[in-house]
Amino acid sequence: MCGIVGIVGRNAVAGQVIDALRRLEYRGYDSAGIATLEDGRLERRRAEGKLSNLQLKLVQSPLSGAIGIGHTRWATHGRPNETNAHPHATPRLAVVHNGIIENFRELKAELQAQGCVFETETDTEVVAQLVSRGMDQQLSPREAVAAALPRLRGAFALAFLFAGEEDFLIGARHGAPLAIGFGEGETYLGSDALALAPFTDEITYLEEGDWTVLTRAGAEIRDQAGTLVARPRQRIATQSFLVDKGNYRHFMAKEIHEQPEVVGRTLAHYVDLANGRVALPEALPFDFATLSRLSITACGTAYYAGLVAKYWFESLARLPVEIDVASETRYREPPLEANGLTLVISQSGETADTLASLRYAKAQGQHTLAVVNVPTSTIAREASAVAPTLAGPEIGVASTKAFSCQLTVLLCLAIAAGRARGTLDASQERRLVDALITVPGLMAEAVKQEGAIEGLAREIAKARDVLYLGRGTAYPMALEGALKLKEISYIHAEGYAAGELKHGPIALIDDAVPVIVIAPHDAIFEKTVSNMQEVAARGGRIVLIGDARGAEAAGLDTLATLMMPDLDPVVAPIVYAVPIQLLAYHAAVVLGKDVDQPRNLAKSVTVE
Ligand code: AGP
Repeated sequence: MCGIVGIVGRNAVAGQVIDALRRLEYRGYDSAGIATLEDGRLERRRAEGKLSNLQLKLVQSPLSGAIGIGHTRWATHGRPNETNAHPHATPRLAVVHNGIIENFRELKAELQAQGCVFETETDTEVVAQLVSRGMDQQLSPREAVAAALPRLRGAFALAFLFAGEEDFLIGARHGAPLAIGFGEGETYLGSDALALAPFTDEITYLEEGDWTVLTRAGAEIRDQAGTLVARPRQRIATQSFLVDKGNYRHFMAKEIHEQPEVVGRTLAHYVDLANGRVALPEALPFDFATLSRLSITACGTAYYAGLVAKYWFESLARLPVEIDVASETRYREPPLEANGLTLVISQSGETADTLASLRYAKAQGQHTLAVVNVPTSTIAREASAVAPTLAGPEIGVASTKAFSCQLTVLLCLAIAAGRARGTLDASQERRLVDALITVPGLMAEAVKQEGAIEGLAREIAKARDVLYLGRGTAYPMALEGALKLKEISYIHAEGYAAGELKHGPIALIDDAVPVIVIAPHDAIFEKTVSNMQEVAARGGRIVLIGDARGAEAAGLDTLATLMMPDLDPVVAPIVYAVPIQLLAYHAAVVLGKDVDQPRNLAKSVTVE
């Protein structure tokens, strides 16, 4: 993901901005830039590649301004070159951005129709032009930003610097984190507390939808409605900077909330957003078109990601998929044809069963592709190709952001397979990619249901047994939802294919067993309604995780309905990961469990 820095300083800030950007290098980047005011005039220095290239430019052409913004860019829209490097600017302002503006194409067309001339392929430049346009229409910087923010869709964080305005910066958060740091007569903005560690340990995290005007005296924070709000100011203990829980009580909570940002970052690594097509980061050593079958193997949550992928590969690429848990694959020793493909999925990249299955597949002459979150892991090193998830370090034992990033990568791979096998044409691919681009913003919307979910969790926490039901790709989500609940709250939970209910599990139904039904309004929704009616007829208490259309069509009295945003059903598994994670998390919190380190569990099972 990209990194953002802003400083309203007492002296020249360029060196401080570089210091802060250096602490954001861990996020990965391919270009960097800085903007300051020199006698009120916007001045930028930008460079492709590493920060050292930007520093060289500053040596050759120094900046003396006492207010500035900086950025490390992970290319999303447009090539990683100097032209596309942030800050992006108009004569009135400069802006840096982390995340994805998913409706940038329509906004760009609107602005071009009004005569705006764009220099770059980036979505960020649209933000610069939109705010600048507002100022052309006599709005103040604050008013222009306040008018522009509601028009932006997606998950993003922004920082603005205005020509002639030596005393304030403006920052905004919508789905990607942004922190404020307080110094002595200086105030800072950063993507995380780590970036600001060189200057202060007094931090305030903006909350969803907040925006702020930063001056040397401090920060004025407003919520999405424009109401002045106070956010907690905390002292971050220095040793925790590297893995900092931020405002959150647990790493799991932080990692659930990070999903819009890290899914957006992962997505940007696999998709050419400007042209609406999948662009795998590196060529794969095999051709999907030559495969007669795909084998998938993984453990736990990663296995459930693989189960979802089975539906995607088979429906989008017409590629038959065989999938099994790695602890079975390694001893079942399935017949695998030489030059076939085995896909292994692993957050840690160290799971013993998955590694053993990878080695078995390689011994059978298979190509092996690893979807992993740790690029230096054993599985990453031994696979013939790697498709990284860019979730960043996942500390909570219960996998959350890694899971949704796995799904993101797997859907991109399935689309690439469909294109290679001729089962998807360009327009079908663009529809799928357009659906993927909406995911970070939809996940940010889903997170807003946390209040309702927290209330429901108090009910679920009373249960001894819980059933999760789903059809199609919602079936693996039912399995994942059950795993999330049982592994951190220790409540017994089982996931079933909804159609299987009548073949036995319905005997369990009574008013003491909540039934969580995962059901976006898709082509098989009506079938799931029948299952819900079977449950209701026996006094079962239903929780529907669905959307407004589904809730209306079902017309059932439920214990609760968790309303997800309308979406293209193909991306439902990624977005619906949020409510099942939050439900498990809050149930475990109600029960006082050790959420980040549940009993008996390890983050990486490196033994059999
Ligand atoms: C996930 O919530 C569990 N902690 C566990 O099932 C995990 O998914 C499994 O151990 C596989 O781990 P890996 O992804 O690191 O291979």
